[in-house]
Amino acid sequence: HRDLLAIGKLERHEILYLLDEAEQWVDLNRRAAKQSEALSGLTIINAFFENSTRTLLSFEIAGKRLGADVVNMHAAQSSVKKGETLIDTAVTLNAMRADAIVIRHGSSGAVELIASKVDCPVLNAGDGTHEHPTQALLDALALRHALDGRGESADDFTGLTVTICGDILHSRVARSNLLCLQALGASVRLCAPPSLMPQGIAEMGAEVFHDFDAALAGCDVVMMLRLQSERMSGQFIPSAAEYHHLYGLTKERLDRAAPDALVMHPGPMNRGVEIDSEVADMLDRSIITRQVEMGVAIRMACLDVLTRSARGVEGWEAAR
Ligand code: CP
Repeated sequence: HRDLLAIGKLERHEILYLLDEAEQWVDLNRRAAKQSEALSGLTIINAFFENSTRTLLSFEIAGKRLGADVVNMHAAQSSVKKGETLIDTAVTLNAMRADAIVIRHGSSGAVELIASKVDCPVLNAGDGTHEHPTQALLDALALRHALDGRGESADDFTGLTVTICGDILHSRVARSNLLCLQALGASVRLCAPPSLMPQGIAEMGAEVFHDFDAALAGCDVVMMLRLQSERMSGQFIPSAAEYHHLYGLTKERLDRAAPDALVMHPGPMNRGVEIDSEVADMLDRSIITRQVEMGVAIRMACLDVLTRSARGVEGWEAAR
């Protein structure tokens, strides 16, 4: 079987395959009757060791709409609190014969460790500061739909410039999006205060900025990220007011981007800090709620594709 651990482990054609597969689930989710029986009889465990609203709920909804039995393990109420190790937790989940395990964990690499101990596909729902692959896939799908809606070619993102601004240092979303957007042909600018920009990130092909106005100039898409204060230790942290002054996306700042530039945010948003409500709620430019909608479809596609070999159905090897 295959796992979904990182965008960095996917080929471009596999990314496109997952995006294409998700389209049928976008259509299904827009109908009154949203039920498929594709994963009927399968058991999916969502094991979340960190807080989540969007990712946990959308994986749960995705599994249920595909007809699977979905069980959520909340770490706060689990035996992890009694000192059980991550590996023992993984072996325990495996013994229950789950057909897929979705994991969010605060440590980079923890999901890969669990994947090495279990017999079923493992999907990374965010590991530390490493990767959040389904977020990057849903962002790509939301972008594809927004461009399609404008009659622009959305087969890939060649020629598109995307500016990602925020706490890049701690952001698994930024890392996964950088890899995914570049794989699909986009140019990516990363913008953060110097203390919140990872060393050596330019070697991954990104253009690095510390001046937000310069990073915005003429870009086609602006993706805003929150300050992840829960992961900060020792960095210089600007006050919310200071941060907003330098890096907050206001209506005036957005005018520096291309005239019809799209606005994205993975959530959760801190309104008035990294993004103003006036921008977040712009009906013609902000695709933040569309990102959430695409999250369910992408997670349905990932669960379907990754469980295919166990179900004897042709998998994404067919994508080549
Ligand atoms: N974007 C995202 O991962 O949100 P949650 O933390 O609410 O899952």
